[in-house]
Amino acid sequence: MSKVGLGAGRIGGPETSDADVDRLVGGALDAGVTLIDTARSYGLSEERLGRALAGRRERVVLSTKVGYGVPGVPDWTPRCIIEGVDAALTRLRTDRLDIVHLHSCEVGVLQHSGVAQALRTTVEAGKVRVAAYSGEGEALLWAVRSGFFGGVQCSVSIVDQAVLDGAVPEAQSRGIGVLAKRALGNAPWRFDARPPEPDVAEAWDRFRVLRPDAGGLPWPVLFTRFAAHAPGVSAILIGTASLGHLEEAIAAVEQGPLDSRVVASIRTAYAAAGRTWSGRI
Ligand SMILES: NC(=O)c1ccc[n+]([C@@H]2O[C@H](COP(=O)([O-])OP(=O)(O)OC[C@H]3O[C@@H](n4cnc5c(N)ncnc54)[C@H](OP(=O)(O)O)[C@@H]3O)[C@@H](O)[C@H]2O)c1
Repeated sequence: MSKVGLGAGRIGGPETSDADVDRLVGGALDAGVTLIDTARSYGLSEERLGRALAGRRERVVLSTKVGYGVPGVPDWTPRCIIEGVDAALTRLRTDRLDIVHLHSCEVGVLQHSGVAQALRTTVEAGKVRVAAYSGEGEALLWAVRSGFFGGVQCSVSIVDQAVLDGAVPEAQSRGIGVLAKRALGNAPWRFDARPPEPDVAEAWDRFRVLRPDAGGLPWPVLFTRFAAHAPGVSAILIGTASLGHLEEAIAAVEQGPLDSRVVASIRTAYAAAGRTWSGRI
């Protein structure tokens, strides 16, 4: 699996065409990307990927997320997981999904609803290779310790470091794979004024508080190298509709880890300012 994955959260809307997705997926494969992450809630992302991957499905590790959105079935029930996996298989035009995440349910749901057990049955049935959990905080830690999951997905970036002293090393010690979402911190350097989306606005606030020293590197390079080479991170997800941005991330990762003094200053600034900041779901 490549260290840089295509986060397909930005290819499900009306501003993107099927032809755009074909070009993006083809270019990503040509650039060596072998991981693509999508979800039921990303608009037409799964359907479009299913079309774009026809005939080349085996070249990628395909990751998606379930837990909601099956017509006529209550969300976060075992039936919703099992039928959600079947529906994802259909939309993605494949007979096996490599990674399926429970998409950000609360810890109480994880513990008491039977959804984790239901996801395991889809692994036993050969429909899913790795059962995974996507989320943050207490639920993420529970998922890492539960024994149900072979992978987790959580926010890892300069503005989302909470997991780096908790869930990520613990996952690593248990042999659980970690996909870093929001690895660019939603690219907060792009905005002169506070952006309207609450999750991006939070990243922007944190970025302004932390004032990281880029040491002369462009912001995307600093963010990408920090997340990709954080101990315990298996791969980073770059949420983009732009092949150029994906290629920039690949080139940045190839430059290797940041200088250890740069990493230390980023970690120290977060430890001082971000003690109460939780991972952005
Ligand atoms: N499980 C979950 O609940 C969850 C939540 C969030 C994200 N995710 C996963 O993680 C992926 C990434 O997360 P994300 O999209 O929220 O955050 P992100 O990757 O940190 O940031 C994405 C934003 O950065 C921009 N960008 C990318 N490369 C850039 C560059 N070199 N220069 C300037 N801007 C750049 C993108 O715009 P362009 O399109 O213009 O490149 C996009 O607006 C998602 O696609 C999804 O797969 C999962």
